[in-house]
Amino acid sequence: NLEFRINSKFVEVINIMKIHSIDNAAKHLVLKGRDIELITIKLDNVQLKKNAYIVDDNQLKINGPFKNNFSLEIKSRIDPFNNTSLEGLYSSSGLLTTQCEAEGFRRICYHPDRPDILSRYVVKITAPKERYPTILCNGNLILDRLDPKDSRMRTVIWQDPHPKPSYLFALVLGKLYEQKSSYTTKSGKNILIRVHTNENDIKYSSHAISSLKKAMAWDEQIYALEYDLEQYNIVAVRHFNMGAMENKSLNIFNSKLIIADETLSTDSELEKIESVIAHEYFHNWTGNRVTCRDWFQLSLKEGLTVFRDQSFTADLHSFSVKRIQDVLSLRNIQFKEDSGPTSHAVKPLKYNSIDNFYTSTIYEKGAEIIRMLETLLGKELFREGLKFYLYKFDGKAATTEDFLDSFLEIINHKKIKTSFKLDEFKAWYEKAGTPKVKIKHVWNSKKGILELSFTQSIQTNNKRSEPLIIPIKFKLFDKNGMITGENLFILDKEKKKLCIKNLPKTKKGPYISLFRDFSAPVIWNTDVCDLDLLELLKVDDNLFSKWEVSQRLVKKFIINRSKNLIDSKLEDLYISSLKLIIEKREKYDLRFVAKLLELPGLPEIEASQKNIDPISIYNANSNFQAAIAKKLSPQLYELLANIKPSLSLNWPNGVGERELTAIAWKWLTKIGDVSICTEALNAVKSDSMSLSKAGLNALNPIICAQREEALEIFYQRWKDKPIILDSWFNLQASNPNNNSFNTIESLLKHHRFDPLAPNAIRAVLGGFANNMPNFHAIDGSGYNFMAEQIILIDQKNAITASRLVKVFSNWKNYIQIHQEKINDALKILDRQNLSSNTREIINLMKN
Ligand code: BES
Ligand code: ZN
Repeated sequence: NLEFRINSKFVEVINIMKIHSIDNAAKHLVLKGRDIELITIKLDNVQLKKNAYIVDDNQLKINGPFKNNFSLEIKSRIDPFNNTSLEGLYSSSGLLTTQCEAEGFRRICYHPDRPDILSRYVVKITAPKERYPTILCNGNLILDRLDPKDSRMRTVIWQDPHPKPSYLFALVLGKLYEQKSSYTTKSGKNILIRVHTNENDIKYSSHAISSLKKAMAWDEQIYALEYDLEQYNIVAVRHFNMGAMENKSLNIFNSKLIIADETLSTDSELEKIESVIAHEYFHNWTGNRVTCRDWFQLSLKEGLTVFRDQSFTADLHSFSVKRIQDVLSLRNIQFKEDSGPTSHAVKPLKYNSIDNFYTSTIYEKGAEIIRMLETLLGKELFREGLKFYLYKFDGKAATTEDFLDSFLEIINHKKIKTSFKLDEFKAWYEKAGTPKVKIKHVWNSKKGILELSFTQSIQTNNKRSEPLIIPIKFKLFDKNGMITGENLFILDKEKKKLCIKNLPKTKKGPYISLFRDFSAPVIWNTDVCDLDLLELLKVDDNLFSKWEVSQRLVKKFIINRSKNLIDSKLEDLYISSLKLIIEKREKYDLRFVAKLLELPGLPEIEASQKNIDPISIYNANSNFQAAIAKKLSPQLYELLANIKPSLSLNWPNGVGERELTAIAWKWLTKIGDVSICTEALNAVKSDSMSLSKAGLNALNPIICAQREEALEIFYQRWKDKPIILDSWFNLQASNPNNNSFNTIESLLKHHRFDPLAPNAIRAVLGGFANNMPNFHAIDGSGYNFMAEQIILIDQKNAITASRLVKVFSNWKNYIQIHQEKINDALKILDRQNLSSNTREIINLMKN
């Protein structure tokens, strides 16, 4: 039983817990708590004397002995109005709202605050009715009345019938506007859906509602999972450390992930929002009904739920395009993380602050592990296993072993023979680092036999050195098309050979398409020559693999160019293949063509190299872009004219056309086409945010009058919408042509810049970190500036600061001059009295 009494300066919290002791010999009961003013403690209704407990900054220790069952009532006070950490109860634009994952509940009241302690919550809230007309909590509303003695005060009671860990608790109070809808589940239950925002934004909540309904239908169809309460609430909050949070029946979202329509959001934002709504909804089963035993199991809920939201988006839109996007972000973020000092296993060995472990490794690599399991077991058996796991651990806290063992149990029960040992598959959770796979091939044209030799290796600090189980989807082609079907090869030893017989006895061997759909999260290399790769780009029927081949070649071109090596002949051949694809584009989804034309990200290239000069990679990338733009310009003009009529189609239609337009504008402005600059400027005034941003992104890196005008128009148009204005801040912070700190400092002092909003901080400082020439300025000024800003942020919001400090994480991969300058910046940070969150990252980076 929790009770909140909301006062204008503080909040009184009364927490009554029924506790069952599982260890009669326990001498103490330890409850966590931070920034709480303790008032009284009653044990079985008797107030404790001061000598019966000890309080410090982080916990309350109550002396035993204890009975088997007892009740504890703790009265305390908290101050949400001055809580800038955005954890626990805090205020945001007049709202009172909570964020409890991972360890925020301990800022609300003294509590064990561990994910394996599940309780049924009844929550009573008393608050002034004028100021807080909306009061939301988990579960069902069971009472709502005015105080008989004081009609300015209102009391509500919410009850959540499902036992839950404290990290899923949520409470929101404020003046909120709502959009209502309803959903009827497969079994006929009617669910009330409500999205709550501020007054101005409520008209932009339909996309969130329709996304939620799609997610509900998908989970019913694919996994036979239904929603389990009478209502589902989503609240949009401006000040939020993360993207969104799956609190039971009361999701809280960063407002940038709720408020949406075509005039406010780009196509990719609309798709992202749809997937985040789905992600938080999917947690209702994978995370909430079955939760984590401890935070080492974080990927059990996050990796699995990311896999589920990825599958959802793939089913709704395009499998290949989604796969390409996910692999791009895996390589640019997770591979980069894994190549530096913050590399860790999906099941980390140790952590200091769990907030630092909401990483791409836990999320995206975790999702890849689940995906490999699906590949190895097949879709049907995988789904059955997952359903069994949820059935078996419903209402419990589980581990990754429990999860995998559930599949084993199904396999054994059905007497299925698998071609791999599920037990050995666990190693994927334990090893840090990205595995490497080398493939060599020998072609015997006389016998028609292809021999492939695979070798796996991994650089890891972990003890366990058994090989990983690596599923490799492959297929063979000749000039005219496929000569074998797709097959799965399981690399489960350090070295293993595969012999493919009865192939056509041609002089030139088959083209080998490997790791189709990116069947394992590894870095792989073959001895196949570049010309054969080019041939695969033409004949491969797997869109992902076509893209993969193209990326491989481009990466090579850029790395070579950064060393002043230009292989013009091969580049030309490659560009001719692109030409052909653009000309024959009616064969493809245009979104795929757009993906093909996008260059790989710089972080991915950086992660694959040692001793990198970030500036020379940036310049090489930029020069290569200009080179392609020049050679493809006739095709690009033809393309632009041809797709123009489709630009106004509503999402999800017209996406490919708009993405291609964005790329063509970017490339053509880069090679100095002035007419495009005007077109891009006009787009900024249009009703489509996708086109508006396409225009801005094309203009931002070049020096021209249209750029200034475009930014001014955008500012005037959106100055009253903070979530949109964030991108205006971001564009300026990332402007490569502005090397004065005055600009960036004036952004931070701008009257529309909100220093307490993580989105705004990330827009400016994240934007600056991507401003390659200026962040990496050779005198180290960019690094020092960043360090100073992080110090200031850390005093207010440790989570945001410790995430931002990772911009330095790969410093040891850089050439010496940059290493020295980043080291100087790290020393500045190291001398400070930092939060434990930021301290942990600094210490990892120092070692
Ligand atoms: N449970 C997390 C949110 C969270 C993370 C809260 C860390 C507190 C600390 C939520 O389910 C989540 O994963 N959100 C992601 C978006 C998602 C689509 C990957 C986020 O917030 O970025
Ligand atoms: Zn999640």
